[in-house]
Amino acid sequence: MKHYSIAIDGPAASGKSTAGKGVSKVLNFTYLDTGSMYRCFTLHMLNKNMDCSSLSDAEEALKDFNMDLKGEKIFLDGTDVSERIREMDVSSNVSEACKHKAVREKMVKIQQEFAKDHDVVMDGRDISTVVLPDATLKIYQVASVKARATRRYEEMRNKGIEVSYEDIVKDIENRDRIDSTRENSPLTRSEDAILLDTSEMTIDDVINMIVSLFKMKAGENE
Ligand code: CDP
Ligand code: CDP
Repeated sequence: MKHYSIAIDGPAASGKSTAGKGVSKVLNFTYLDTGSMYRCFTLHMLNKNMDCSSLSDAEEALKDFNMDLKGEKIFLDGTDVSERIREMDVSSNVSEACKHKAVREKMVKIQQEFAKDHDVVMDGRDISTVVLPDATLKIYQVASVKARATRRYEEMRNKGIEVSYEDIVKDIENRDRIDSTRENSPLTRSEDAILLDTSEMTIDDVINMIVSLFKMKAGENE
């Protein structure tokens, strides 16, 4: 049976996972947050006091990397790390840890296997270009740095995580730079992805827009 897939890529904090979760509920699809997988691997490296920018450390860390995804929760060695991986130490190292080819190959394989068995909404940086090049709908979701930093700041403060607005701006700009200039699967808009600027859009606007676009695309392919 053929499965549908929606790929959402874009820079940090542009609202991809919020949109992805919302769309998956409306369409009754399964949602996969691929960023959480790279964050989980980064935490694994940090727990082992490894250097995330080192290829040999990353390859070593892959050998005993034990990750589990259950619904929207993610587990490392059996511990629920869904909240822990959102903290600043993970954010500021994740772009280094995930740039290595061996790391990306491992994650992409899991993501592609997952899409074989489910109707999916997947968000990340390389979903349209590498993971699901034949996705039914591809979205490239952007927003201004100001809108993204303000949203992420409010989100973290609401969760009780101590962080300054300036540090969030720095983190977002730094990750965008590394993610879009790396050698392996850089963040880039694929030619057939629809550009969606959410700077002035509410979450409901974004979800409704993606659901309508999906219905149009799926109709065209019938
Ligand atoms: O939610 P936020 O935009 O802050 O980041 P995320 O989606 O959780 O992704 C964290 C980091 O993982 C990104 O900055 C990328 O370095 C990396 N990532 C990636 O390389 N490829 C993906 N498909 C997803 C995330
Ligand atoms: O997954 P990504 O890093 O792209 O962003 P996110 O974690 O989904 O969204 C970052 C924050 O922006 C969340 O707290 C959302 O509630 C908020 N937000 C949004 O996603 N979309 C809007 N149109 C407005 C706010």
